[in-house]
Amino acid sequence: MNILLTGGAGYIGSHTAVALSQAGYELVLLDNFCNSNPSVLERLQKILGKPLHCVEGDVRDTSLVTKTLREYKIDAVIHFAGLKAVGESVEKPIEYYTNNVQGTISLLEAMELVGVKKLVFSSSATVYGNPQYLPVDEAHPTGATNAYGRSKLHIEEMLKDVANSNSAWKIICLRYFNPVGAHESGLIGEDPGDIPGNLMPYIALVASGKLPSLNVFGNDYPTPDGTGVRDYIHVMDLAEGHLAALEYLSGYSGWDAINLGVGLGISVLDLVSAYKKISGRKIPFEILERRQGDIGECWAKVDMAYERLQWRAKRSIELSCQDSWRYICSNGLRKNI
Ligand code: NAD
Ligand code: WQD
Repeated sequence: MNILLTGGAGYIGSHTAVALSQAGYELVLLDNFCNSNPSVLERLQKILGKPLHCVEGDVRDTSLVTKTLREYKIDAVIHFAGLKAVGESVEKPIEYYTNNVQGTISLLEAMELVGVKKLVFSSSATVYGNPQYLPVDEAHPTGATNAYGRSKLHIEEMLKDVANSNSAWKIICLRYFNPVGAHESGLIGEDPGDIPGNLMPYIALVASGKLPSLNVFGNDYPTPDGTGVRDYIHVMDLAEGHLAALEYLSGYSGWDAINLGVGLGISVLDLVSAYKKISGRKIPFEILERRQGDIGECWAKVDMAYERLQWRAKRSIELSCQDSWRYICSNGLRKNI
């Protein structure tokens, strides 16, 4: 089966490429490298021991996407390509809607034209907004609080309409919780390219001495230690979730949204302790005010993923820290810090 991964050179796309290729899928990556480096392709080839097809270009270029779908006889698409920084989305909403929403429309046009109707979409737990109950299941009301989250919601709704229009469409939106860690080889991982906004990459840079200390955003949440609690999922577990979703698509028709998380809440301070233990480094931190727009707690109910996809996360938070640390140590990372 031939699969197109839009945004396949990015953090989650590259790890999914490993899982899929090792399961026997033929892959084509399409990426404009706006948030990734072409060197990831060599690294992927090193892990896989074989060359990988990659088309450099923008998902908004409908004729390029159409040509790619035709040329490589694509059977299904996993759509990772998009912008993902919450703060930036508030400052540049038009860029986010153009890239994320218009990018998806362009992809759908190309897929419709060529008759490719199987799609897995990278959605996010951010579509639940501030959780009204925990764990968050897929029936939880949606309501994003920023332009990034709203772009994901708009896309989900759009995909629902498309699936309703013709039973040939098979569409799954995977709502990722907090992806962390890296591939065990240490060759690929998360390189945010700037000062990280997300917790684990920030901790990693403090542990490596590249940043002096971690700012902990609030210790007055109603959580066991007062710090924010999230559902951190190892990126290779997430990658395998895509494999399960692709397999599920074969015997299915319509639209579904499924949580991909571990089902376990971990606090900021829990994560600091775990990383400290694994790295053997000091991780100084300072307690600051709550970060604007943050929620206290969020973790997933993961039963639907098990029932529908027969998939469950199996890697521990310690393994996530270990793999992240290996990646940081073997790559030096971050040209601009
Ligand atoms: P990433 O930035 O590492 O990867 C996205 C890739 O898409 C990059 O390689 C980038 O160059 C490419 N890209 C962006 N716009 C493009 C365009 N118009 N045309 C072609 N390529 C384009 O991000 P990631 O963490 O791997 O996230 C992948 C997807 O998962 C995104 O849609 C993101 O919103 C979603 N997601 C991520 C997280 C997370 O915490 N990392 C959580 C939930 C959902
Ligand atoms: C986790 C916890 C912070 C950094 C964001 C996006 C979301 C999704 C994943 C894509 C919180 C605390 C963080 C720091 C800290 N992305 N923290 N100091 O907020 O769950 O989600 O990334 O869809 O859309 O909003 O993840 O890693 O930023 O924060 O104390 O320097 O760590 O307050 O409690 P979050 P995060």
